[in-house]
Amino acid sequence: MKKIAVLVSGGGTNLQALLDAERRGEIPGGKITAVISSCDGAYALERAKNAGVPGYVIRRKDYTSNQAMTVALTQKLQQLGIDLVVLAGFMTILTQEMVKAYPNAIINVHPALIPSFCGEGFYGLHVHEKALEYGVKTSGATVHFVSEECDGGPIILQKAVDVLEGDTPETLQRRIMEQAEWVIMPKAVALFCEDRLKVEGRIVHILEKE
Ligand code: GAR
Repeated sequence: MKKIAVLVSGGGTNLQALLDAERRGEIPGGKITAVISSCDGAYALERAKNAGVPGYVIRRKDYTSNQAMTVALTQKLQQLGIDLVVLAGFMTILTQEMVKAYPNAIINVHPALIPSFCGEGFYGLHVHEKALEYGVKTSGATVHFVSEECDGGPIILQKAVDVLEGDTPETLQRRIMEQAEWVIMPKAVALFCEDRLKVEGRIVHILEKE
């Protein structure tokens, strides 16, 4: 059974989708054993508490750099014996120390179809603002492995979502969460935990169930 840690910074709806999927038996090879927040008072910590999962806070503001915070986080994950790290609305850019400690074992959900609307500065609602400004008719979500390049790691799953007339960043964000993020994130985690993801360079092959 793989031990999963979910890293959060805010509302935690993706965390909730993972907790619900686990409860329904959809992540048979894994167990969410820790939720770590980058700030106090994140509602995601309430969700963890309600599900009986231990919550921890490693505040960005207690460290002088992203690197110092990443080192502390990595140590915590190793102490907890974590096998898979899931970034579910985690808003600090992690540095190479964690990627080296967890090669192809950190999964991120991004609210656009990478390589569109991604990279530094593209997070949360900003991503949807940019997509609407550009006038795209389709956006969506991507779940990918984390590499040293921001939003540049091998893609595991993607799902497209229509942009509708009159969309605001908020309505588009909600539709992408409901139709894409909450679906493909738990699916990717389940595949990882069943050892069904094989990475060759940039390409992630999804293996058949044995
Ligand atoms: C989600 O839309 C997630 O894709 C996005 O932040 C939101 C967090 O919501 N992540 C990024 O933008 C990362 N670059 P949640 O806390 O309700 O899961």
